[in-house]
Amino acid sequence: MIRAVITGSGSALPRDCVTNADLEARVDTSDEWIVERTGIRQRYIAGEGETTSTLATEAARKALDDAGVDASEIGLIVLATATPDHTFPATATQVQQALGCRGGVAFDVAAVCSGFLYALGTADSLLRTGMATKALVIGAETFSRILDWEDRTTCVLFGDGAGAVVLEARDVAEDGPGILATKLHADGEHKDLLYVDGGPSTTGEVGKLRMKGREVFRHAVVNLATVLGEVLDEASVAAADIDWIVPHQANARILDATARKLELPPEKIVVTVDQHANTSAASVPLAFDVARKDGRIKPGDLVMFEAMGGGFTWGASLARL
Ligand code: ACO
Repeated sequence: MIRAVITGSGSALPRDCVTNADLEARVDTSDEWIVERTGIRQRYIAGEGETTSTLATEAARKALDDAGVDASEIGLIVLATATPDHTFPATATQVQQALGCRGGVAFDVAAVCSGFLYALGTADSLLRTGMATKALVIGAETFSRILDWEDRTTCVLFGDGAGAVVLEARDVAEDGPGILATKLHADGEHKDLLYVDGGPSTTGEVGKLRMKGREVFRHAVVNLATVLGEVLDEASVAAADIDWIVPHQANARILDATARKLELPPEKIVVTVDQHANTSAASVPLAFDVARKDGRIKPGDLVMFEAMGGGFTWGASLARL
């Protein structure tokens, strides 16, 4: 059977690391409050010359190297971001140009923090139709540029970064590698809980992120537990068989609550929120790359990706490496 197989990964972070102590000098907050409520200790913030496309390109290059794939072989780039370099062209086309692989399909998807799951699901479907044989799936963000640095309830939570995977269509055995099942959902009902208060068709300004954190937290735990169950059912896999969960890194307490709902041990959850904060669409591929490169995630492992974000959008995907 033809499946989309993850054959490489890469990630990129901006140069500047900003600790909670650094933020104390900027807004009325404390390291203690941030660590206790979120688990975040530091984040990376894009500076001069660093944009969503430069971070995405660096992550993509590393993923290509890791997979042993030349940029010229890539026929599809799906890039998830809510902070594109420009309203248009799509950041995916900037990355395509920077990599030097012209003529294939390249587009952005906007599903905020679930963006990587949406991009992975889309690329998986397109590879299985034969539209391309090798794809780059990228999550990249510079959320620091849409934060209200006067608003302590949001500005301490986010960071910038990028992660990428190479997906290849391969003819594999039933118990072989590849993406086994993906479920994606959206519900526009709760837009006011998490949104950006601007845009090209409304204010004409980029706008700033606004969030009612407590309500978002409540929805996240319920939606994630449900979608994880749906993916396990679809793939006929028991939760206990999962080797690793690579979740969207929004908040350590959401990760703990989701693990408890699924009765999964915390050791199976990849956590990078302490190092990177919430990097929106970049967080899942960033965390995945960290855990692959440090040797935790190995070939043959069963890995569950999951995320929930603005929209609301949410989703999960199960893959064997
Ligand atoms: N430093 C110090 N105090 C703060 C800060 C801060 N940075 N931010 C808020 N406070 C204060 C509040 O003003 C409030 O004070 P008050 O009681 O005197 O009014 C108090 O801390 C508690 O505020 P709450 O908002 O009720 O705190 P809560 O325990 O809910 O934690 C948090 C806030 C961390 C945002 C939590 O609700 C959360 O994690 N929500 C999920 C949000 C999230 O992860 N969103 C992203 C997921 S979706 C996506 O990734 C796009």
